[in-house]
Amino acid sequence: MNLPPTVFDPPFRITRASHVALSVSDLAASRAFYSDVIGLVLTAQDGDTLYFRGIEEACHHSLVLRQGAEPLCARLGMRVLTEEDLDRAKSFFDAKGCPTRWAEAPFQGRTLHVTDVAGVPLELCARMSAEPRMITKFSAHRGGCAQRLDHYQILTPRVRDACAMYMEAGFRLTEYIAPPGSSDLLGVFLQRKGNPHDIVFFNGAGPRLHHVAYLAPEVHHLLHACDVAGALGFGARIERGPGRHGPGHAMFVYFRDPDGHRVELFNTHYQVMDLENEPVGWDPSDHNISFPWGLPAQRKWFEQATNFVGTPVSEPERKPNPMTLETYLSKQQG
Ligand SMILES: [Fe+2]
Repeated sequence: MNLPPTVFDPPFRITRASHVALSVSDLAASRAFYSDVIGLVLTAQDGDTLYFRGIEEACHHSLVLRQGAEPLCARLGMRVLTEEDLDRAKSFFDAKGCPTRWAEAPFQGRTLHVTDVAGVPLELCARMSAEPRMITKFSAHRGGCAQRLDHYQILTPRVRDACAMYMEAGFRLTEYIAPPGSSDLLGVFLQRKGNPHDIVFFNGAGPRLHHVAYLAPEVHHLLHACDVAGALGFGARIERGPGRHGPGHAMFVYFRDPDGHRVELFNTHYQVMDLENEPVGWDPSDHNISFPWGLPAQRKWFEQATNFVGTPVSEPERKPNPMTLETYLSKQQG
């Protein structure tokens, strides 16, 4: 496999995936879903904007919800280590021809807007207002007890280009999906923080946001989130799982929020940071990669995603052909 080289001394230091900004149609419905089902803490409401954080997060927000006519994603946030890293990031993306501009973002320090090589709108900052961690405030814990934002998954026709750019920026490739003997990357899992991924790119019409994922403390929190969803009328918003992933190996459950944005709750990730941790390849014809047990995802899980604001969507040259629940059941009956 011809993989881009790993860069151990990157030109600037992204530390982690950190925050996402979405538009929603009904702030009350979204507030109930994210507070009671996912278990986020509402840090602040400012007019038509809600700011949430996970129960262990010591920063102001990891989820920003703004009232809007269409369910879109405005930006994906990444933290960098220092203010100097922001300047170095700007130089890096400018040299790549990726659009950059300085922006004002409430409750954040100096903020850099970047459009990456796949067309994904990013937002980088080194500072955010501090808030108390709620991890031992057990009386405030709700639903899935989402601890912290962990990663994003993106659909794009430009998986290899994205992989090359993010690895040049210091991301480690932990796992990838490609047919044996081929250099055709269909999925890449890239990380900065030492677990399987901060950002994942899969082949598909895009760029679009497939999901944002929050870590849950224990497996039983996934089940409790489902129970709470059912009790509050969000039961039909459980789209996939609970189940076990192949790549990343996590226990997971996927929800669609009231506007259709997809949110994953998961746990049981592993540590990956040492020199000898080489990327692990997966064969897409092995259906254990998407469901080691249980049932595969519905077709809509593979195909539906959130558009980014002002970002055109392109079709991939190679059409995805995943094992869907619909295909699986038809084969079982045949
Ligand atoms: Fe995920």
